[in-house]
Amino acid sequence: MVQDILQRPAKTSPVDAPPLVPDTEPAPELTIILPTFNERDNLPVIIERVGQALTGVDWEILIVDDNSPDGTSAVARALGENDRRIRCIRRVGRRGLAGACIEGMLASPARYLAVMDADLQHDETQFLAMLNKLRAGDTDLVAASRYIDARTDAGFSASRARASHWSTALARTLLKVELTDPMSGFFMLRRDVIDALAPRLSTQGFKILLDIAATGRGALRIAEIPFVFGTRLHGESKLDARVVLDFGQLLLAKATNDRVSFRFVLFCLVGLSGVAVHMAALAALHALALGTFSAQQAAATAIAIAWNYVFNNAFTYRDQRLAGWPFVKGLIEFELICAVGAISNVGIANLLYNHDSIWWIAGLGGAVMGAVWNYAVSAAFVWRSQ
Ligand code: GDD
Ligand code: MN
Repeated sequence: MVQDILQRPAKTSPVDAPPLVPDTEPAPELTIILPTFNERDNLPVIIERVGQALTGVDWEILIVDDNSPDGTSAVARALGENDRRIRCIRRVGRRGLAGACIEGMLASPARYLAVMDADLQHDETQFLAMLNKLRAGDTDLVAASRYIDARTDAGFSASRARASHWSTALARTLLKVELTDPMSGFFMLRRDVIDALAPRLSTQGFKILLDIAATGRGALRIAEIPFVFGTRLHGESKLDARVVLDFGQLLLAKATNDRVSFRFVLFCLVGLSGVAVHMAALAALHALALGTFSAQQAAATAIAIAWNYVFNNAFTYRDQRLAGWPFVKGLIEFELICAVGAISNVGIANLLYNHDSIWWIAGLGGAVMGAVWNYAVSAAFVWRSQ
């Protein structure tokens, strides 16, 4: 499908059908999508600068704001009242940079789309060069890269530069994405590209360009141009530790063609840490000589399950985190579900052992079955998404 769409002749009129009403104006050639969260003070500045950089181009700006508490969308609407080229989508009940960019791109009828941060870290004077590359017709997407020329990242701390370097290397090896800066949030593309790829893109996380390039799987003709990552004008960055988890999730999903669930991997990692907790608890109870060995083992199991619950709630299901009474209720449910999981683990292991008496295959089979049961049932009952 992507291929079909990409093979369309590059130069057709943006509006193939005649206008329904005479004297109507066709869509602009370029829509610039500005995802925003608390960028009230940056908006007027960036809009002014984009306007200057794009003299002579038929453009519009589409702000996609996730109901920022600082009132960014009100500022956007006020600016739009005097200038029809400034539009705003105010999303309520949703958060996420990638999702906001996708939604903005899908809402535009323009032939070309650009995505750019609203905090002035990206260099709007590159827009014309990017647009001209697309207009030439032999490029589907132009990515602005921080790493083509000198590595002059004014807006980067040392630790951030390191993280960026490693995630870039990982993305290139695992996903075969040949971009020098796949984490860049600054790019321009033809709208039909996003129309084709949108249903397969992830709305989570920050890595929208990487996702587009990985999902396009070599069918996209990508060009890169250099730019210098500037410093944020007002406000603060929203990139936090959660973004690292999102990145891991995207890598896994794209590298395995959506076959391996990142949640399940996290669930198993938490489960492995639970084994260590189990042994530590058992050692302590045993040393204290509390009760019989079966009682000690049962108590250590319950402690390990509680540990797993707390960590799954914090990481694996961070987006559906339970708190207050639902947290307690969830803990009881999780203990019961995992108790059944433990019993089925022993049962399956026995069955396998009776079949071919290789102890480690039997043991592993039981453990895998237990983990799958715990995962599937707790997903259905404890953290069921509303
Ligand atoms: N709608 C919406 N929803 N916009 C958001 C959200 C969100 O949940 N989170 C951030 N934004 C907007 C910000 O308001 C800003 O305009 C832009 O997205 C980038 O967010 P920053 O918080 O400034 O991110 P950064 O500067 O730390 O990260 C930049 O560099 C990364 C590479 O290191 C961005 O360009 C990333 O896309 C890029 O991956
Ligand atoms: Mn920023």
